[in-house]
Amino acid sequence: MNIQVTKSPIGLDGIPAAETVLSHVDGERGELIVAGEHVRVLASTSSFEGVTARLWNAATGSSLSEANVRAKLGAARERAFARLPELLPATRGMSIVDGFRAAVAGLRAENGLEHEATIVGAFPVIAGALVQWAKGHDPLAPDPNVSHAADTLTMLLNRKPEPREVAALDAYLVTVCDHGMNASTFATRVVASTQADLFAAVTAGYCALTGPLHGGAPEPVLEMLDAIGTRERIRPWVDAALARGERLMGFGHRVYRVRDPRADVLKDAIERLAAEGADLPFAGEVEAYIREALRRKNPTRPLETNVEFFTAILLDALSIPRQAFTPIFAVARSAGWTAHAREQQRTGRLIRPSSSYVGPMPKV
Ligand code: ACO
Repeated sequence: MNIQVTKSPIGLDGIPAAETVLSHVDGERGELIVAGEHVRVLASTSSFEGVTARLWNAATGSSLSEANVRAKLGAARERAFARLPELLPATRGMSIVDGFRAAVAGLRAENGLEHEATIVGAFPVIAGALVQWAKGHDPLAPDPNVSHAADTLTMLLNRKPEPREVAALDAYLVTVCDHGMNASTFATRVVASTQADLFAAVTAGYCALTGPLHGGAPEPVLEMLDAIGTRERIRPWVDAALARGERLMGFGHRVYRVRDPRADVLKDAIERLAAEGADLPFAGEVEAYIREALRRKNPTRPLETNVEFFTAILLDALSIPRQAFTPIFAVARSAGWTAHAREQQRTGRLIRPSSSYVGPMPKV
């Protein structure tokens, strides 16, 4: 993938757009705190349902337990499955990434049930159905009695996953559930600030996520690893790409000036998974050389590995098709988006920034 970005001083860098109790990114120290706890701690101690409870409680003052959220999401997955005949026709002929957008846009309120559970529960059901459809199979019904991670994997893979696979996906879902005022969360909050409902807000968030400068990078990361192919080709391939002015996917971050802490959490999860297909030593060599080459090219701008590099390797090792990586990111991030939308709605304040007009002025 060849992306060249026009540089502009405009981009709201470092400007607070909201006060939040949901997550904090410290770009200088390489730290991410989610609702009062370090992400590295959460990834080894909490399930996705646990961290979702933390986020929803922090946003609304509720006191949901992990078990409450697990029950709500299980029921919501079943409701979403029942609605697939309405949601899927709009996705016909689309890629998985675009079809997911169309189906998510079709979600709506259900009989006074909480919107956040309806949304977070629906996401893996839609993703699983699109993956199965792409293979010519029928969608697999969810099981409300297993964890969100286990059910997500079952619906994606069309088989019962191993406990180590479930643990790896759960660690991923926890690790990327929220991340400060990133582009998709900002988009979600802008829509929520108009008092539009959560369905509209998360649809906007997903649209923002699909771009390769944000959540669309993991698929290109695998394409890059495929294109490099062998150890001997790492140096010439990377040097040539940088000489052409290309951005290397999975590196650099608007906020982090040191290594993205989520990259290490995911690397640990991949090592624990130790699945066939994850050639971690090769990926590690590619990573090490890209970091070295980026330091050489931009000595004054620290460009380190971001979360997307190891996301690609982890999801690939779990045999999730690469075309579904962005929807899977959304499965995790829906926890953060719904919490941010609620938090924003409660402020009652419309987000309405200004722009610098640089066009021509009328003569008189
Ligand atoms: N590869 C090569 N050069 C890079 C990269 C990269 N991945 N990232 C930044 N640079 C270079 C820029 O070309 C620029 O160089 P210059 O000063 O010689 O023109 C310099 O570093 C500074 O770049 P900025 O544009 O200021 O960086 P910005 O904060 O806008 O970029 C971004 C952040 C978009 C993530 C960028 O690093 C990038 O495009 N990375 C690749 C895509 C990617 O990995 N996306 C996932 C991000 S993580 C997430 O959203 C979940």
